[in-house]
Order: sequence, then C-alpha cells, then structure tokens
Amino acid sequence: MRRAAEMPRIGTAQAWRDAARALLSEGVPPGQVEWTIEGADQAPLFGGAGVPVRTAPVTVPRSFLGLAETVVWHDDPQRFAHLYAFLWRLRDAPRLMQDRADLGLARLRRMEKAVHRCQHKMKAFVRFREVPPHRTGRRAFMAWFEPTHHTVEPTSRFFQRRFADMDWSIVTPDVTAHCIDGAVSFQLDAPRPDLPEDAHEDLWTTYYSNIFNPARLKVSAMTSEMPKKYWKNLPEAALIPDLIAGAGKRAAEMARAAPTLPPLRVEAAQRQQQGFASDWGAKGETLEAELHQCTRCPLHGAATQAVPGEGPLDARVMIVGEQPGDCEDLEGRPFVGPAGRVFDAAAATAGLDRSTCYVTNAVKHFKYVVQRKRRIHDRPDRSEISACRWWLDGEIARTKPALIVAMGAVAAEALTGSGKDLLRRSGKLEATGDGIPVLITVHPSYVLRAMGQAAQEQARDMLERDLRLAASIQSEVCG
Ligand code: URA
Repeated sequence: MRRAAEMPRIGTAQAWRDAARALLSEGVPPGQVEWTIEGADQAPLFGGAGVPVRTAPVTVPRSFLGLAETVVWHDDPQRFAHLYAFLWRLRDAPRLMQDRADLGLARLRRMEKAVHRCQHKMKAFVRFREVPPHRTGRRAFMAWFEPTHHTVEPTSRFFQRRFADMDWSIVTPDVTAHCIDGAVSFQLDAPRPDLPEDAHEDLWTTYYSNIFNPARLKVSAMTSEMPKKYWKNLPEAALIPDLIAGAGKRAAEMARAAPTLPPLRVEAAQRQQQGFASDWGAKGETLEAELHQCTRCPLHGAATQAVPGEGPLDARVMIVGEQPGDCEDLEGRPFVGPAGRVFDAAAATAGLDRSTCYVTNAVKHFKYVVQRKRRIHDRPDRSEISACRWWLDGEIARTKPALIVAMGAVAAEALTGSGKDLLRRSGKLEATGDGIPVLITVHPSYVLRAMGQAAQEQARDMLERDLRLAASIQSEVCG
C-alpha cells in the first residue's frame, strides 16, 4: 500500500526522523512512500495511508543522523525521498556511509554542503535594524533575509546565542524566527516588514571601503563569497559597483604613488635594515622567546615577566588592551584578572568568542607603583608605548587581523597614534598606519572604575555595543 508522508515546514528535521523511523520499522520500501511538504502545491498522487505510528527500535549510524539533520533543510522537494532511499539501503549495508563512490551518498553530501554554505551566508549577511522594543529595557531588532535553502530554523540557535541580550526577528519569505526574552519561536509566511534605516549603516560602509583593496580585486571571487542575490539587503553592497568601477583607476593611482626605486647602495642598506627589523611575519614563532628577553625600555626591570598575546595566530580579530595588570604579570597571560573578567563577560554577551580572537596588550610589561605593599597600576608613557610597538607590530604582522579592537586610550595611541577623546571616538572605525581597520572602544577597567551603578551600566553597554560590532565584522570576514 502507498504511504503519504507530509512534512511540516517548521520542525521538519524531527518530523522526517519520526516518519522515516516509523516507515523503516514497518518495512515500507522507498518506492511506496510519497513525500510532500505542508502547504506546497502538491497533493499526494495516491490516496494511501499515512505514516504508521507504531515504531520498533531502528538503529542507524550517528553520522547519517547528522547528515539527515542538515539535508532536510535543502530546497530540493525530493530531499526527503533521497534521504529515505539512502536510509533504506543503509539498513542492510551499514558501511555505506564510508563508501565515497556511492552516488546516493555523494548527492546527499552535495546537498549537505549547500545547506552549510547557506547557513554560513546567513550568519554573515543578516543585517538587523533596530525596531521599537516589545517591552521596556530590552532592545529589539529585525532583519529581512532571503536564504537559498530553509536555513532559518537550524541557524536560529546561532543568533539566539549571539544576541542573547536582545529580542530579534529574522523574517524570510518562508519561515520567520522570533526570539523574545531568549525564547525562539517560528512563524510561517510573515509579511515582509518595512524596516527603518540602520544606525550602524555608515559604519559598515566605512569598514567596507577601508578594507577594499583595488589592486586585489577579483570580481569572480568577490561575487562567489558575497553572491549578488544578497547585495540588495546589505548596506555596504551599495558601494560595490562604484568600488569595482573605480578599482582600475585607484590601483593605477596606488602604483603611481608608490616610491620610485632607490639607488643600489640605499637598496642594500634598506635590505639589511629590513632583515634586522621587521620580518616578523616569517619568524613569528620566535616572537614570544625574544619578548621574554626584552630590555627595550626600563619596564622590564620591575615586572615579573613579559606577557605576550595569546590566541589563534590566524585570528581575524585582534583585541588590544593597555598593559598586563597585577594578576597578568604573575600568571604571564593577558586579561586574566578583574579587567579580564569584565572583558570576558562583555564579549560573551556581545557574541564574540574570545577563543577565536588574538588577545594582547599595547605594552607587554606591568608598570606599577608600590603603595602600602600593593602594586598599583601606573599608565605607561609615550616612550614606553612606542618602545613596545616593536612587539605589537610583530604580533600584527604575524596574525594579519582583518580588524583590531583597541580597548582604551593606550591601545588607541599605540595603534592610531592618538589616545585622545576616547569616548567621542568609541564605536567608530579608524585605521593603523598600514590601513588595518581599528575599532576604538573603552577599556574594561573603565567599567570597573565607573562610579555608581548607572555609570557602570552605561560603560558596560558601550563596551558590549562595540564588541558586538566586532563580532558582526568577524562573522562578515569569516563568512
Ligand atoms: N588590563 C589590560 O589592559 N590588559 C590586561 O591584560 C589586564 C588588564
């Protein structure tokens, strides 16, 4: 007897799993099942019975479950049938999951890849706009997005984690996700909202034109990373046609502006100096060892040890603080004391995963004065900041971050040359001398030092707001 299995558009993964388990335990062969999708213009050809409810235990490899959980979100109407046909064969050939030559498995893997790619694009290209809050004290945001596959539901957990402190909705032509007070719900066929302009829009466009390098323009690679279908909902994409059109001219201008070749003698001297000074990109692995021997300024004398940065050497985001504090000096790691705890909490709230960032300081030795047997932080002066640029430059050259977050005036001074007017500059993008975007923000100890609860909350909000921006730039550049 033919079976009709209608899959809901919300909760599809669980529904397919239940249906497949029931059909398999009854021994219904794939050819007997007609899979349809709720609300699609597709009635079962055969009247047939529904999916059996009786289920006997069915065991399948865990790797298949993972594959199925992704493939069910593909846009192909045949996805349920393909999965069930493969599962049917898998029952008698458990090693099928390892068979790279199997065409059915290859098709499912391709579908899985397409869904993962779509999830990736969604994480990178969703742009929230602030909307009136559902209730006071909790900001609310909404985004319109047009995914290729049905990725709203499986990707919602990512947004739930990342934007835990706000309410948000992602509206799509198919399924809409709402997250209110941390609880996610889904809705079908919500109308497209009329969204306000975004306050961060100019930041995105500044960032995008800053990182755009006309000499490296590869339109095909660019459109494959940021497919044109997403452009219409991205504020920064409005710049792309002009940037592309002007790329040839700008690259020619860059070439014209490049220094002319020096005489041979000068060139030899420069080569010698470069070998001595700045090949950190290549000899990066010795940076920490050399840093521990540093005597470039007097600060090494009183400190316990130099504190190098830590984190992945290919991190896209680098976080720069001021200098190690008392705990960091003793432990030899950055941001492990009270300011570190403020930073960790703000980063977690902002959805910035510290373990994916390279975290370091502008100055690598603890500068302090002793008062009543306690070592009290003392701000490094300009000559100490400038002596320590040697190491910061090395870390930047080695990691090549896409974005540097400067926390506090000392970091801002080391990276941009000025530590003035920090509050006015915070939340804005500037650049290092080499053109790497620098996002200025307050130092976590500014939160600790703020007097009174209201001032402290305001400082914390500022730090979290900027780290949230860093997180969204991170997912943009990693997307
Ligand atoms: N403050 C900083 O700037 N860096 C640290 O590592 C600790 C406190």
